[in-house]
Amino acid sequence: MTERITNKVSLDIEDGIAFLTIDNPPVNALGQLVRQGLAEGVQRAGDDPAVQAVVIIARGRTFPAGADITEFGKPPLEPFLPDVCQTIEDCPKPVIAALHGTALGGGFEIALSAHYRIALPSTRVGLPEVNLGLLPGAGGTQRMPRIAGAGPALDLMLTGKPIKAPRALEIGVIDEIADTDDLRAASADYARRLLAQGAGARPTSQRAEGIADKHAFLAECQARRAQLERRARGQKSPFMIVDCVQAAAETPFAEGMKKERAAFMECLGSDQSKGMIHAFFAERQTARIPEAKTARPRAIDRLGVVGGGTMGAGIAVAMLQSGLPVVMVERDDESLARGRANVERVFDRNISKGRMTDADKSAIMGRFSGATDYDALEGCDLVVEAVFEDMDVKKAVFAELDRVLRPGAVLATNTSYLDIDEIAASTARPQDVIGLHFFSPANIMKLLEIVVPARVADDVVVTAFALAKRLGKVPVRAGVCDGFIGNRMLAVYRRAADYMMEDGASPYDIDAAIRDFGFPMGPYQVVDLAGGDISWAARKRRAATRPPEERYVDIPDQLCKRGWFGQKTGRGYYIYDDKSPRGRPDPEVLDIIDAERARKNITPRAFSPDEIRDRYLAAMINEGCKIVDEGIALRPLDVDVTLLNGYAFPRWRGGPMKYADMTGLDVILSNLRAWAAEDAYFWRPSPLLERLVAEGRSLDDLNKAAT
Ligand code: 3HC
Ligand code: NAI
Repeated sequence: MTERITNKVSLDIEDGIAFLTIDNPPVNALGQLVRQGLAEGVQRAGDDPAVQAVVIIARGRTFPAGADITEFGKPPLEPFLPDVCQTIEDCPKPVIAALHGTALGGGFEIALSAHYRIALPSTRVGLPEVNLGLLPGAGGTQRMPRIAGAGPALDLMLTGKPIKAPRALEIGVIDEIADTDDLRAASADYARRLLAQGAGARPTSQRAEGIADKHAFLAECQARRAQLERRARGQKSPFMIVDCVQAAAETPFAEGMKKERAAFMECLGSDQSKGMIHAFFAERQTARIPEAKTARPRAIDRLGVVGGGTMGAGIAVAMLQSGLPVVMVERDDESLARGRANVERVFDRNISKGRMTDADKSAIMGRFSGATDYDALEGCDLVVEAVFEDMDVKKAVFAELDRVLRPGAVLATNTSYLDIDEIAASTARPQDVIGLHFFSPANIMKLLEIVVPARVADDVVVTAFALAKRLGKVPVRAGVCDGFIGNRMLAVYRRAADYMMEDGASPYDIDAAIRDFGFPMGPYQVVDLAGGDISWAARKRRAATRPPEERYVDIPDQLCKRGWFGQKTGRGYYIYDDKSPRGRPDPEVLDIIDAERARKNITPRAFSPDEIRDRYLAAMINEGCKIVDEGIALRPLDVDVTLLNGYAFPRWRGGPMKYADMTGLDVILSNLRAWAAEDAYFWRPSPLLERLVAEGRSLDDLNKAAT
């Protein structure tokens, strides 16, 4: 008979084995009713003389994927997860966790508190708390190292990446992989075998194989700290993870638990964690778009791409990896051969890194075909154009697509800046034309801006979102304007950097301040990486329409005129050679900057790193507010997701709009107003920002109002 302990956990006993079944869709998050159900259920099974062993198992798609993140920030409700874990561990009878799906965070900590673990072969286990600015807070930092040692434990906790069942078995954190899909039967069988062997309760807190070699354990912790100094500077939780794991080898279990609890609570209250939790939910909310309320996606079974250059090839790889057949069209045989080679190069590199086999590559390339004739695209349901950034070339390609594609097929452009309304209007089917703005490298970068022109049909927009999901991308809905969301913001904050450079900061000061904020590279390092010629071409294109009030800094053009395009020419803002492959400051660049200042009668002044950061961020935030106000982005969170996934904005800052809320919108506005005295055009505050400050509201209030 099945008994409900709470309405999320039930108990039934079959031949002496008590099954505690968790049922809290969609991911069995460990909300209060699950915690209470587990604690009471284990207690009851432990006390029941008819029970010999306990199995904790979950219904639906997964064993718990963690604590219930929606509870964070609210008053905590008992029983607390670490206590539930202790109750499980203290059960006098063997407790077995039966895992499937993704046993993550608190879910995996429940499993580690059980005495034995069995898993379906497809299970993945992990401790992803670091991705939320947290650390495992229910004993994970103390129990896992006791079984697996410092290396594997820190791998899991510092990368946040889950591992598959076979690896989990190898490092000892699961004990058995089920050889049937019937996990309940497999766990019952495992329990009986354990009982037959006389195995009893086996508290993880008393295991010590992982901490036996204390010297090696502590050396591992030290090495990880040194790595973090390079990779995670400014972040809190990764360093605390190492401290807590180290405590597992140095202090008794109860003390380690206390340390973990204190560290967890400190992280939970931090802005870093608030930023990362915001990012987690924001990335799931961008798919909530008005069109999805009524429209359904069109069927997408066969894809096409026009152009096999940097973007076309990357897009083709992303498409092929989703399992769909792909046709690539290029302008001649030579370009097609290059496009195909660009695609194959990605897979070859994966093979050399051991990420795929030759057979995998053959299977994938079996779905790829190339042509120089547009008729080859005839059977495609969706085609992405990625040819040169030139309106006439694009229109010629769309005329061909219009000619060969069946009615109802989707025609997409990967243009960075061109007017998609104009491209759509050049076809006989503007309702089927949409922007799919991928980022380079398109097979790696998660962001996909879905650019919605005026005349596109709702079901085409929904189809684009369905495709994004299929490709594993994070989609953001954007309106048509110069640069859409991301590149429009980039143009503005890069200009803020150029103004500071001309007024007195060196590019090296600016890069250092922006890196200190948490970006992996500063703006001038990024220009050198991408190639100064690309932004030079964009500036030339915009020259004719540039507003006369806009201040223009010539320094970047001065560099380009000398052929200093960055890494690919060995010289840009930095010098790249054998001595400094990552670049070193160039005194001649500083001379050029000085000469420009002299020419414009600018007396250079000092900029502190804080001022550099504040101006750079304020320019970004102000433009983000304008983008939201104009309806180019649906909500502030869409701006955050764009910058986080396409422009390397530090995740632990939550995105520019979240950062603005945490800094205080009034602070940002008063800075903008002060700087407007020196350049009223550039620093003009967004009307939305002014309204929010006047009303005492936040950008996040707009997110909430929209969902
Ligand atoms: N708490 C609350 N809601 C959660 C959740 C959680 N831990 N995990 C996922 N959800 C919600 C999502 O917000 C989403 O809601 P929506 O449908 O309303 O948008 C829904 O569950 C489905 O999630 P996904 O769309 O992400 O589904 P996927 O199948 O793509 O991915 C997953 C599933 C791999 C489990 C992914 O959701 C995930 O990574 N979740 C977070 C896991 C995590 O970070 N766990 C650690 C939590 S912190 C913790 O445990 C602290 C402890 O140490 C004390
Ligand atoms: P690229 O120059 O590397 O590739 C363009 C390819 O298009 C070339 O292989 C060329 O042979 C082919 N081509 C040109 N005319 C063609 C035609 N009529 N028919 C078939 N093929 C033709 O350019 P890249 O960088 O791949 O850019 C392509 C598009 O993607 C542009 O619109 C660009 O603005 C956009 N984009 C570029 C990004 C980047 O970082 N490079 C990022 C996001 C978008």
